[in-house]
Amino acid sequence: HKHILGIEQLSKEDIGFILDTADSFKEINTRDIKKVPTLRGKTIINLFFEASTRTRTSFEIAGKRLSADTINITASSSSVVKGETLEDTARNIEAMHPDIIVMRHSASGAPHYLADRLDCSIINAGDGAHEHPTQALLDMLTIRQHKGSLEGLKVAIIGDITHSRVARSDIYGLTRMGAEVRLAGPGTMIPPGIERLGAKVYADMREAIKGADVVMMLRIQLERQGKTLLPTLREYAKFYGLNPRNLTLAAPDALVMHPGPVNRGVELSSYVADGGQSVILDQVENGVAVRMAALYLVLGGEQGDNA
Ligand code: CP
Repeated sequence: HKHILGIEQLSKEDIGFILDTADSFKEINTRDIKKVPTLRGKTIINLFFEASTRTRTSFEIAGKRLSADTINITASSSSVVKGETLEDTARNIEAMHPDIIVMRHSASGAPHYLADRLDCSIINAGDGAHEHPTQALLDMLTIRQHKGSLEGLKVAIIGDITHSRVARSDIYGLTRMGAEVRLAGPGTMIPPGIERLGAKVYADMREAIKGADVVMMLRIQLERQGKTLLPTLREYAKFYGLNPRNLTLAAPDALVMHPGPVNRGVELSSYVADGGQSVILDQVENGVAVRMAALYLVLGGEQGDNA
């Protein structure tokens, strides 16, 4: 079975091919009748052990637009609350013969664990602080749509890099596509050795966003902090928040991005989040097309008819 577990394993060509496939699906999403028979008869289970608005909804919509049967399982309303293990839960779901399990889990490597054991395709919808591959793909699709290409762009990613699976997947993807990735955030939220992935770390956020073509803001992942010393939200907004004043340091046509959920007034001022440079809702729109491509490609990319 084919899986999408992370961006780390994907080549520049693989990423380009997934983005091209997503582009070819985009038009279906604005039709009057938003449905094609491509994955008719296929069963997709969205197995979410962590909260989600965008990812779970867009995977469900993506599956439905391709005519697959999609079923959502949320840990809090499943037998996980009665103590069933991940492996037992997954094995029982496998017995119902799904074609794809889309999975979000707080443990890094959980989808890889299932991919080694189950007889179906697995798509990682976010594993701990490790990877969130379809988020990075929709981010790259959004940048490519606005800038034409990713090659040579300066992309600043600001905030809690240590606990962000979005940052990790974006660093892998953007550097592979030839972009320059700059990182800034509180010292406790920059993982030691992150430069090994090809990104450059800046002590001052203003240096990182100077001349940037894209400024990607991240929320503090409060659910993953462990013993990290946290700045107050006011301090955080002062030193690591994007506002109309420091945004002028970036290129005049810089894109402002955020994977959501946004903490308004902390990492992003409302004025910037809702301003003319923000492409946050384009990211969400592109999420559906990217997830249609992901579902289609793990099943071999040949089922049915796209038209
Ligand atoms: N960007 C993202 O993963 O959002 P959700 O947590 O709402 O799915």
